[in-house]
Amino acid sequence: MHMRKPIVVGNWKMNGRQAGVNQLIAGLREAAVGLAGVDMAVCPPVIYVPSALSGLGGSPVKVGAQDVSLHGQDGAYTGEVSAAMLADVGCTYVIVGHSERRALYGETDEQVAIKFANAQREGLCPILCVGETLEEREQGVTESIVAHQLDAVLSKAGIGAFDRALIAYEPVWAIGTGRTATPEQAQDVHAFIRARLASHDAGVASRVRIQYGGSMKPENAAELMAMPDIDGGLIGGASLKVNDFMTICRAAGGGA
Ligand code: 13P
Repeated sequence: MHMRKPIVVGNWKMNGRQAGVNQLIAGLREAAVGLAGVDMAVCPPVIYVPSALSGLGGSPVKVGAQDVSLHGQDGAYTGEVSAAMLADVGCTYVIVGHSERRALYGETDEQVAIKFANAQREGLCPILCVGETLEEREQGVTESIVAHQLDAVLSKAGIGAFDRALIAYEPVWAIGTGRTATPEQAQDVHAFIRARLASHDAGVASRVRIQYGGSMKPENAAELMAMPDIDGGLIGGASLKVNDFMTICRAAGGGA
C-alpha cells in the first residue's frame, strides 16, 4: 500500500492532429469517470492544450504542457510560451527537463532549474525529469548524473519546492525503445532520489511523488508500480491510446 497517491501523466510529445486529439480527449473523459485512487493528467502539444482543457473540464484528468519558456516576463521572445500563459489558460502541470529537450535542444541543468522555478512562481506543478543515458549507465555514473540534475533545482528552488512538484525518473535508454528498466533498476534510482532529498528534509522526501517513465505499458505497469518508491508513471507512446493509458492508470490506482 502506497502512502503517496499515485499519479499517471501522459506525455503526448509531438503527436496528433485536431480530429484525433478530440477523439482521444473524449475517450479519456469517458474512461476516467469513477476511477479513484490515482491522479491523472495529459500533456498535449501546446497548441492542443486548449482543446484538452475544454474537453476535460470537470474531469479528474488534468492538463499540463510539455515545456515552458525560460523567460519569466512577457516580451520579445518569438515562439515562446510562458509559465504565466500556461497557468492563465488553466494548466495544472508542466514537464521540465525532459531528456528530449536536454538532448535535442541543449537544455542544461541550470536552465531546467529556471524553468522549474518559473513554473512554480505561476502556481504550476512542475514535473522534473531526470535520468541517465545508456553510456552513463554503462560507465556507472547514473547516480552522479541524477544527483547533479536534482541538485541544480535544489540549489535554485530549495527543498521546500519539492512539496509542490513531481519528479519523473526517465532512463534515456528506456524512452521509446521498448526496453523498460526492470522494476529493481527503477526502484534503485527512485530510492536514491528520495534519499538525496531526505538529506535535506526527510518529510519532503517522504511526500514527493516520483514517477517512472520509459516504455511503461499495460504489460509492465503493475510490476513497476508495486515497487515502494515508484509512485506513478510518465507515459509516452502508450498515452496516445485511451485503453492503454487507462489500463496503466488502473494499475497505478491498485485496480486490475
Ligand atoms: P515512452 O513511454 O514512449 O517510452 O516515453 C516515455 C517518456 O519519455 C515520457 O515522457
